[in-house]
Amino acid sequence: MYTLGIETSCDETAAAVVKDAKIIVSNAVSSSLFWHKKYGGIVPEIASRKQMEAITQIAGVALSQAKLTLDKIGLISVTCGPGLIGSLIVGLEFAKAISLAKKIPLVGVNHLYSHIYACFLNLPKPRMPLIALVVSGGHTIIYLLHDFDKIQTLGTTNDDACGETFDKVAKILGLGYPGGPVIERRAAQAGSNSHIRFSCLNPKKPLDFSFSGIKTAVLYYVKKHGLKNKQKINQICWSFQESVIDSLVVKTLSACRKYKVKHLAVSGGVAANMRLRDRFQRESRALAGLNLYFPPKQLCTDNAAMVAGFGYQIFKKGHRSSFSLNLALD
Ligand code: KG4
Ligand code: ZN
Repeated sequence: MYTLGIETSCDETAAAVVKDAKIIVSNAVSSSLFWHKKYGGIVPEIASRKQMEAITQIAGVALSQAKLTLDKIGLISVTCGPGLIGSLIVGLEFAKAISLAKKIPLVGVNHLYSHIYACFLNLPKPRMPLIALVVSGGHTIIYLLHDFDKIQTLGTTNDDACGETFDKVAKILGLGYPGGPVIERRAAQAGSNSHIRFSCLNPKKPLDFSFSGIKTAVLYYVKKHGLKNKQKINQICWSFQESVIDSLVVKTLSACRKYKVKHLAVSGGVAANMRLRDRFQRESRALAGLNLYFPPKQLCTDNAAMVAGFGYQIFKKGHRSSFSLNLALD
């Protein structure tokens, strides 16, 4: 069965066709990032306006790349939250309209759960129970999955999200937006040649995260020492990135130990970071028999293939949405 996925939770307008939750037949993404760059972050009004302009065309591209018409689509899966209200409404109302006009079943999905599913597109059936770390621009969450519709939150951030922290630190360092890719590049140029030490705070709940302290520490360091030269900025990037990764790896692996889980999925925009992947690969070897899953890099950031795949999985379990489907912002 073919599922049409629709994703508009942040700055992307995305549509994809996925066959049986496994085969990505088409995957179209249009980003309005260019229009936000000069503001140093996403401007919600610009994002939703661009999505209104793009959604019909992007859905058309996904269908034509798949060489399908809507008559061949068995399910429409759409992100209903969390995300930007104005952006989500564009995708949601578009999905409802085609569902109604063509009498295609509709399912609304949680954006963060669909990020987890990005690890399992094109793979054999995911094995449960599974620990999933989702590290995106808006969220940092450790989940325990017993099934696709039995998901428990084990830990979350008490303040800034992980990707948001990369973005804010890049702004402090004058590196532009988005911060993750440029910090990764600059950190790689420093190598491990940095004497600067930053660390992430440890909230009371052991599986929770805190990133606002490290952002402030970078700010004070820069105020005190200035940004003397390119190498100094590279060293700050390295030390910042290492500390954030320390916190993610230590807490996520301790969740695997605590719940005696043998499968771990790491996804979301920050999971595109190669240093983070290397550290997880290396340090998860200490847990005998742990299977580690990452999405392909291009599926780490927002896309509709993961939305289609996850939607199909919960549809198979009997989940359906009516036309009164609303945003789910939490
Ligand atoms: O998942 P995503 O595309 O959007 C949300 O759902 O939020 O994640 C975007 C975030 C941004 O904060 C961006 O800086 C971060 O992912 N990011 C990275 C990398 N690529 C994107 N962070 C660290 N390293 C990267 N290579
Ligand atoms: Zn996302």
